[in-house]
Amino acid sequence: MTKGLYVLLISIITNQTLVAQSIIPLPEKMNNRNGIFDLSIATSIHVRKDMLPEVLQFNEQLKNISGYELRVNDEDNEEKGNTIIIKQGPGITEEGYQLEVTPEKITIQANDDKGVFYALISLLQLLPNEVSSKRKDISILKIPAIDISDHPRFKWRGLMLDCSRTFISPSYIKETIRRMAFYKLNILHLHLTDDQGWRLEIKSLPELTSRSCYFDRHFNEPKEFQGYYAQQDIRDIVEYAAQKHIQIIPEIESPGHSLAALNAYPELSCVGHVLPIYPFFSGPEITQDLFCVGNPASYAFYKNVLAEVIRMFPSPYIHLGGDEVPPTRWEECAKCQRLVKQNALADTRELGGYFMQQIALNAIKSNKRPIAWNEVFEQKKYINTNWIIMNWGSSKAALDAVKEGYDVVMAPTSHLYFDYTYEQINTKKVFEFDPYYGEKDDGLLKSHILGIQALFWSHIDRTESRIDYQLYPRLLALAERAWSSTNDINYNNFKSREEYHKEHWLKNMQIAFNGND
Ligand code: ACM
Ligand code: ZN
Repeated sequence: MTKGLYVLLISIITNQTLVAQSIIPLPEKMNNRNGIFDLSIATSIHVRKDMLPEVLQFNEQLKNISGYELRVNDEDNEEKGNTIIIKQGPGITEEGYQLEVTPEKITIQANDDKGVFYALISLLQLLPNEVSSKRKDISILKIPAIDISDHPRFKWRGLMLDCSRTFISPSYIKETIRRMAFYKLNILHLHLTDDQGWRLEIKSLPELTSRSCYFDRHFNEPKEFQGYYAQQDIRDIVEYAAQKHIQIIPEIESPGHSLAALNAYPELSCVGHVLPIYPFFSGPEITQDLFCVGNPASYAFYKNVLAEVIRMFPSPYIHLGGDEVPPTRWEECAKCQRLVKQNALADTRELGGYFMQQIALNAIKSNKRPIAWNEVFEQKKYINTNWIIMNWGSSKAALDAVKEGYDVVMAPTSHLYFDYTYEQINTKKVFEFDPYYGEKDDGLLKSHILGIQALFWSHIDRTESRIDYQLYPRLLALAERAWSSTNDINYNNFKSREEYHKEHWLKNMQIAFNGND
């Protein structure tokens, strides 16, 4: 009997749709086998104690679907039949796993907790279509027999949320973390400061959270679009994300995109007077006002901010911004011009590189690698290959940086801007993004292109359901491009799995995706 016929028959008999080919992102290797594993309350899991947190998270999701959890036992205390066994897997790389489903038992092998976590997510994605039902009394979940061997293509599989143009609630951030983890994404970059609001509590600079996080009153902006994250909110988010193997990377913009900070500390701008905080579409898209780099107090400001940021975020990276820095005010400012002369800079623009180099020292001495937008690459004199370039621009700049030994994360406007409409960037376009831009890999690309990341800017779509709409299903295509090897880039194949996820998992996760594609 062919596999297809077998699955069809079982489906008719049990009224469950078996979904051997439903996993997103697509695993590296998959072989269907004959037979069915019946997952039920009689199933037990055997696992080493240090992998227990992964199993508890699996159980929580299973309970949501079926109403029951599985018994958990020590790995040595193996029972006969209908068990899930989690073991060390010699030779399996970081984050990788093997998952074998037979009618008798399920065996998972991995060498780290991430591998176990990802194997259990793949197992969840093999569950039949009952995952989206509201019933909580499903006694048997049928899982088709299969062999999977899997590991990620990139170690950086990211999403950025712009928390400045619109404040994004901690509960929505956590919801996003949960959904990202389900698609094996592992980096959440929070854009915490910009012209439209400073969103992070810095205890030594209290005006940032009494003034800089609110729009000017006369704009009458909704309350929920404004506000800040208390340090405790951040600790909660970081801890929640760590359980889901997601790293939170903070971005503190410098020296531009800083109007909100300058509203509270006007003496740090070149003009020196108070500048109102306006909603994105109520003022210039890019304000000319930025930190006065000729003022020593600007350096002290970042030193104080970064000291607290470093304590709040355990990530080995800090993003320092550096994009879109108009030099107009610096041209007109005596203090800034004095610095240009003192350091014999070729032009005023160089002040941007100089400033970022100085403030990055605060991060580097705490062993954090600075990240910056690709504009810093135009100021090469001030950076070195310890810096990571986040490329939102052209492929050429990014590939030039790679060739000079920089680590690069690809987040181009052309494919990965999730604030763009589906007419501008549809799911297929995201799916087809090639981070190597057609270049042959001679080893350099593999070692220096760390991965890919989608960017969501919150100036247009500002409510949680609208953000859902912008992120899904594009995030699934991003996840596949970030994780899956390029052996099988077949949009139709992706599409059939995507349809299954829209129908069942996006519903399960209460995502308002609205049918867009
Ligand atoms: C950017 O869109 N300015 C990174
Ligand atoms: Zn100045």
